[in-house]
Amino acid sequence: MLELGAGPGAATEALRLRAGRVTSLEYDHGFAARLGARVSGTNASVIQGDATTLPFSGNTFSSAIAILMLHHLRSNELQDRAFAEIARVLRPGGVFLAFEIPDAWLHRVGHIRSTFVPVDPATASARLTVAGFSHATIDLSRGGFRIRALR
Ligand SMILES: C[S@@+](CC[C@H](N)C(=O)[O-])C[C@H]1O[C@@H](n2cnc3c(N)ncnc32)[C@H](O)[C@@H]1O
Repeated sequence: MLELGAGPGAATEALRLRAGRVTSLEYDHGFAARLGARVSGTNASVIQGDATTLPFSGNTFSSAIAILMLHHLRSNELQDRAFAEIARVLRPGGVFLAFEIPDAWLHRVGHIRSTFVPVDPATASARLTVAGFSHATIDLSRGGFRIRALR
């Protein structure tokens, strides 16, 4: 499994208990170094990198997950580039999962010192299809929404 935007690694431990092997990609050098040290010697490994230009060959992963990462990309174009990159590194039949928060004043205030480019759940499915996914579904719930798409 490929985890995109692992941050301090809140989900990494849970993912590595469920997946055979986890590669966690994180843009921030400090987060990546600390998480890499923490999971050293386990079935997880950490790479510093950018979700919009993935440092992996095509067809490498059977699944990918991005938890609260997509809205940190600075534009819709960069999000679309990340979708295309994720599709590229997934094997045919691979699954992409993401969890995102909607546009809301509370989230805008919460990101006043960071990036908040909300993914519009109404257009996400079409954007994923253009990026190379099929069967994209968006599940809305009270606090956010879940994206699921097949390569
Ligand atoms: C809100 S945190 C989420 C962390 C983790 N997924 C979680 O749920 O606890 C978003 C993370 O995405 C990372 N990020 C931002 N832009 C990125 C990019 N272009 N490529 C990879 N990671 C990125 C940030 O550095 C940050 O650690």
